[in-house]
Amino acid sequence: MGQITDTYILNNGYHIPCIGFGTWQSPDGETTVSAVRSAVRAGYRHIDTAAAYKNETSIGKALKLIDIPRTELFITSKVWDDSRGYGKTIQSFQKTLDDLQTDYLDLYLIHWPATKYRCPDWEAVNLDTWRAMTELYRKGYIKAMGVSNFLPEHLEALMRTEIIPMVNQIEYHPGQMQEEVVDYCKQNGILIEAWSPLGTGRMLSDQRLQDIASNYGKSAAQLCIRWCLQNGVLPLPKSVTPSRIMENADVFGFDISDEDMAEINSMPYFGGLGLHPNTR
Ligand code: A2P
Repeated sequence: MGQITDTYILNNGYHIPCIGFGTWQSPDGETTVSAVRSAVRAGYRHIDTAAAYKNETSIGKALKLIDIPRTELFITSKVWDDSRGYGKTIQSFQKTLDDLQTDYLDLYLIHWPATKYRCPDWEAVNLDTWRAMTELYRKGYIKAMGVSNFLPEHLEALMRTEIIPMVNQIEYHPGQMQEEVVDYCKQNGILIEAWSPLGTGRMLSDQRLQDIASNYGKSAAQLCIRWCLQNGVLPLPKSVTPSRIMENADVFGFDISDEDMAEINSMPYFGGLGLHPNTR
């Protein structure tokens, strides 16, 4: 990847810009409107939100204010836990479209799987949600479909349907690489997106990462983002601070060496959210 508009190609042939602008924990209102505008000015063309983030209205406002054609933007949203199942997914999707003031999404994800620990018919619920998304996809309302926070045990049922997921968005940062999930997805042609690639900021005070980053004249944040790309993962760094938004987009024109990649890849868990679908 040589620039922020370079793309990964999903398993249905659709292109997805290689860095997404994360908006989890960006509050509804002027902060998010202005953050999205800063991101687009800094070159981001891919914006990641979710019904549960409660900021889709602000993102919709920002999209109206920027001077970029909709077709040059890539917008992702997600259906929340209380809207699982066929009918509620369709309803929730319509609200997402209305709030974002758009008539299609580039990518729509199931935010968290229903699991056997909380839902006796978890597999049927996930399949019903997936059926709704498949219909939206067939009708052209979504250009790609996928999941978030799914383990292989949750993905298996979807792999037997007519359309397999194109994306699995998981927590991914140094020390939290979820190898089993990543290997399963890579073997099945599912792109991994990294939520909280900076460990919600917790990676940035780590001395080892700072030292490696300084060898390249980069910050620990830039190192984490570049490290995702070099592992074939799509990072979604979040910030509401214009200087950081620009910094996080400036991750091209240098390569982390194989040795440094191996060192970061071997770091044991040292912080982050560590949310797990079966125990959260
Ligand atoms: P803020 O939004 O106030 O700028 P993650 O993407 O892993 O969830 O991390 C998001 C957190 O990291 C936010 O608290 C964000 O703060 C902070 N952050 C994002 N980019 C940078 C950066 N380049 N330097 C320092 N902190 C950053």
